[in-house]
Amino acid sequence: MSSHDNLLSLKGLTVQFGGLTAIKDLSFEVKRGTVHALIGPNGAGKSTTFNCISRYYDPTQGSIRFDGTDITHRRADEMAGMGVARTFQNLELFNELSVLENVLLGTYSHGARGLRKVLRAPAVETREFAEHLLQRVGLIDYRHHFAKGLDFGRQKMLELARAMAIRPKLLLLDEPAAGLRNREIDALDSILTELAGKEGMTILLVEHVMQLVMSISERITVMSFGQKIAEGTPQEIRSNEKVIEAYLGKGGAHD
Ligand SMILES: Nc1ncnc2c1ncn2[C@@H]1O[C@H](COP(=O)(O)OP(=O)(O)OP(=O)(O)O)[C@@H](O)[C@H]1O
Ligand SMILES: [Mg+2]
Repeated sequence: MSSHDNLLSLKGLTVQFGGLTAIKDLSFEVKRGTVHALIGPNGAGKSTTFNCISRYYDPTQGSIRFDGTDITHRRADEMAGMGVARTFQNLELFNELSVLENVLLGTYSHGARGLRKVLRAPAVETREFAEHLLQRVGLIDYRHHFAKGLDFGRQKMLELARAMAIRPKLLLLDEPAAGLRNREIDALDSILTELAGKEGMTILLVEHVMQLVMSISERITVMSFGQKIAEGTPQEIRSNEKVIEAYLGKGGAHD
């Protein structure tokens, strides 16, 4: 496999918060057009890894390469334009805006139009694209509702639609299935499989719902206490002793 096949590559990433080492010497690669999962017990450093890739946190050491460019020192507000979109473990929606407006704001990051225009009088194709995304995530009937009026599962799907609106090359999803009902998890499974499979998007997924992780991931990287402890296919990870131990030891035993 040539390095060109990798959309994202982390090398020797270390993050310290004062005396706490949240991530230690973390390296892994994410292949283009695949779903790659990043799993591990609570506090393992998964969200911190996302915060480095999306440039909210500066790593203490190490480097991040995305699509052939070293982005270790890029600004967070450059990332959407470069093709990196993310969702948050704790939702970050515009509560006082409608469902449709939240998605329209996602399209704004890759368009040249003014913010006011995007919200008040979006171009027909922009509006149609936003509505198409809402259709896909099952929210088209809620497009004029306030985001804050949606239940938790639907808010998560709205965040996904808003991230998709950037038309990202890389989609970073931090626990998209948390709090979803089984039916909603099945829908999420189909959407993500289609995004990576048919549309060639690359997805890095942090998730505790193992049923989803095992179903859609081509590769899985496992972290524990800030370090990579295993990597492989779902079959390999399922039977990996270190992984089983990490999940059964202290920290959460999810699923
Ligand atoms: N801004 C911060 N300041 C200080 N410590 C932090 C900060 N962000 C994260 N940490 C610490 O870094 C460690 C890793 O946290 P992180 O949120 O990355 O874990 P996680 O793997 O996402 O866990 P979870 O599955 O519970 O979401 C934890 O000990 C956490 O308390
Ligand atoms: Mg987290």
